[in-house]
Amino acid sequence: MKNPFYFKALPDDAPFCNRSKELAALLRFAESHNDVVLYSPRRYGKTSLMRRVQKTLRDQGTVTLFVDFYGVASLHEVASRVAAAVFRVTHGEKPLWDKALQTIKTFRPVLRPSQDGGVEVSVEASEGRQGMSLLEAALDELGEFVARVGRPVHTVFDEFQEITILPEVRQIEAAMRSSIQQYQASHCFVGSRRRLLIAMFNENQRPFFQSAHNFALPPLPEGELTDFVRSRFAVAGTSCLESVATDLVRRVHCHPHYTQRLGYLTFEVAEQEVTTTHIDEAFGDLLATERPVFEAMLQPLPPQQRLLLRALAREPTQQVMAKNFVRTHHLGSTNGIGHSVKQLATLDLIADDDGPWQVVDPLFAVWLRQS
Ligand SMILES: Nc1ncnc2c1ncn2[C@@H]1O[C@H](COP(=O)(O)OP(=O)(O)OP(=O)(O)O)[C@@H](O)[C@H]1O
Ligand SMILES: [Mg+2]
Repeated sequence: MKNPFYFKALPDDAPFCNRSKELAALLRFAESHNDVVLYSPRRYGKTSLMRRVQKTLRDQGTVTLFVDFYGVASLHEVASRVAAAVFRVTHGEKPLWDKALQTIKTFRPVLRPSQDGGVEVSVEASEGRQGMSLLEAALDELGEFVARVGRPVHTVFDEFQEITILPEVRQIEAAMRSSIQQYQASHCFVGSRRRLLIAMFNENQRPFFQSAHNFALPPLPEGELTDFVRSRFAVAGTSCLESVATDLVRRVHCHPHYTQRLGYLTFEVAEQEVTTTHIDEAFGDLLATERPVFEAMLQPLPPQQRLLLRALAREPTQQVMAKNFVRTHHLGSTNGIGHSVKQLATLDLIADDDGPWQVVDPLFAVWLRQS
């Protein structure tokens, strides 16, 4: 029997747990042409959720652009990804495609057969512009496209905080903000480096200041996630008591991605019925497979930040400078702790969302406690 758990960004027709409130709210923002900044720790389901939002909007006649800034490394790439998103969504719809060709001139589309038998759409820059001038032109053309397309337009900028690694970040923010103000469309800025994203939209000297509604995506609710896990096992003919499914989701603090991963590995070791022994075994496997990821997260950090991470994994606290905390976890002097907290928080490795400072990733915390 095929394993019923899935842990890549979910296609818009894959089984999906809950998020009905968020889906409805995000649709309302989009329909009213308002902008949202959607953030959460990594792998909470932001991309999957936005795919669903855009699927519904598409069904209602909206043109949905999806611009992924993951790994973006130059101004040229920022501009080309915006242009490519327009050609990608319009390809196959002749009137829209023609509008895209009439308005987007800084880049031309390049079509190649894709591995799955479809068409892969990418872009090549037309001669002439470079740097900020290229980006500004591409954004103007996007505005022109939106104005002429005659249908509502919704754009997702996924991994939006990635632009902050570029030296021209402030200019990019300013150019994007002013372009977006000039046409009627809705936008969702998505990302997992929460501090960077929140700063971009909530610091009063930044171009995007208060231009979008802050929307924090929480973990999935325990009850619904438990039902979801049970139903996934049931689809594949494996039974799972409610208490056992609750145990599974609690092990990973209702983290959406880890729930699917743990479900997957549990299914691999379980037979007709899931037991806590199967979950124990699968949890060990999950930790083992994540080890290289966690080692890579720890590796670039200086000693005091590593110590602080381990300390917070063992003992979340509001008082990182408290004598007892510093002594118990051998943090040495309190000098530099404030700086370490700031650095770790910027990396979104620690947070003090609803109380004490703690390690954001629940599995990383378990691994840190054991290492
Ligand atoms: N509502 C949901 N129901 C079931 N599984 C979910 C749900 N949301 C997310 N997941 C699981 O979490 C995984 C990660 O989702 P996704 O890639 O959308 O998260 P993300 O927040 O965009 O991650 P990143 O921060 O890495 O960009 C999905 O592949 C899926 O396994
Ligand atoms: Mg994502």
